[in-house]
Order: sequence, then C-alpha cells, then structure tokens
Amino acid sequence: MDEKFTRDEPGWLGQDLRVFPTVGSTNQVLRERLKEENVPPGATIIALEQTQGRGRLGRSWWSPPGRGLYVSTLVYPPRLQHAGILSLLAAVALTDTVRRVTGFAAGIKWPNDGMIQGKKYAGILVEAGTAPISWAIIGMGINVTGQVPEEIAHAITLEQAGAENLTLESLWQALAHDLETRYESWLIEGNAVIIDAWRNYSVTLGQIVLAQGPFGQITGRAEDVDEEGRLLIRHGSSLIPVSSGEVSVRAPDGSYTPSSDAG
Ligand code: BTN
Repeated sequence: MDEKFTRDEPGWLGQDLRVFPTVGSTNQVLRERLKEENVPPGATIIALEQTQGRGRLGRSWWSPPGRGLYVSTLVYPPRLQHAGILSLLAAVALTDTVRRVTGFAAGIKWPNDGMIQGKKYAGILVEAGTAPISWAIIGMGINVTGQVPEEIAHAITLEQAGAENLTLESLWQALAHDLETRYESWLIEGNAVIIDAWRNYSVTLGQIVLAQGPFGQITGRAEDVDEEGRLLIRHGSSLIPVSSGEVSVRAPDGSYTPSSDAG
C-alpha cells in the first residue's frame, strides 16, 4: 500500500488499494485477482506505468512512467447489463473531478472520452462479467503531466492544457471521492441522474457524427443518449441507437476526428 494514494477520507472505494511501479494492465491485474480470491467492492489497482495498457475497441493505451494516472476499480453492479451506464457514470465522475481541480471546461465525447480544448486527455475502459457474481472493472487512464508525443494525434495532458501543481496522488484523492459519490447516487436514484449529468458534459450531442462498428457506418446528428447510455443518431426519419463502436465528430472542414489512444 502506498501512503500517498491512500484515501484521506473514509469511504469504500479505494480502501483496498495496491500501487505498483509497473504492470501490464491495471484492469488485467484486477481481473486476475478476482479469479483467485474474494475481492471487496472498491478494490483498486494503481500503476505508475503500464506496459500493455488496454484501450477501447482493442486498442493500446499510452502509459509511460509517472505521466498519467492508470487506475482500475472493482464494483459489483446489481446486473451485468449495467456495464454501459457505468462507462458513462465513470466519465461523469472524472469530469466532476477535472472541472473542480483544474477549473477547465472539461467535456465528454461519447461514450466516455475525457476531452479538453477539443483533445482527449483521458480514456475509460469498463470490463464486466458474471462470475462469481456480476462485476465490473472501471479502468481509467488520465494523461496528467508532460507532453503527449506528436505522433499521437488529438491528445493532450492536463499539464499541457495549463493545469498547475497537479499530482497523481491529489487527482486520485479527488477522483475516488467523485466516483464513489456518483456510484452511490446511481444505486439509489438510477440511470436518469447520470444521463442528465452526461448530457450537460457532452461535446457530442448536437454534432454531426460518423459511427463505425459491427453494424457498419452511420452518419447523422447525435441527438441524445437513451436511458441505457446508447447514442441516438438521427439518420433520415430514423433514430438509430448505437451502443458500441467508434464515433467521430465532424470538424468544420468536413473531416471526421477519430478518438485518440493517448494513449
Ligand atoms: C480508451 O481507449 O479510451 C480507454 C483507455 C483506458 C485506459 C485505462 S489505463 C488504466 C486501465 N488499465 C488498462 O489497461 N486500461 C485502462
């Protein structure tokens, strides 16, 4: 246990904390632990570096030493079907945190990319299963210090965006608080409050988007998200729900900007 990341307030999320200098993937470490033992809700893995950081859609996640907060937390949602809403919930909690600690107008690109100044500073990968009971691992990668290499397009660190005196430890303290608060309020109040907060933070709604996934390609205006967190895209007279895949927002020059993997 690393004292600097230990919660400085009571709470279940992050009380069981393991901090590693380097791992393959914090999500994977937690998944393996789950196979071997009873793991309490809120158990958290933080790594200062990942050598095989995983992103959405099978991508990798840029995770160099000491540059970012690479963190995974285990929860036991009432049902496996909740994985989609949890991925939005995590993005809402992250945005609460980043707005409060930096003052930036941070936003969310569907479903859960953390965006500042039109660039991605954070990504979230939620993995879920049912054995031994319904579980979900919320993995977040936040670019905090230094510069994102030029070859990783459309990405930024909080420091590059202008954040000062931000440490990985203080960011985690704030994020643990917000993630726990949002999760508890979701358990009591349900999806609607999360969806409303997500709408307020969204940089996707109202934009023309290109969605690509197992369903093929759809272009249209992103009109809303439904109660499960699916993006509703207007295509002619139909409103098409999209639950997975890549959504790119159309830029003023007509090009579509994909998600970055900065990682
Ligand atoms: C994305 O593609 O936008 C999601 C990236 C998620 C990266 C984080 S870093 C901590 C956790 N461990 C992983 O291997 N991935 C997630």
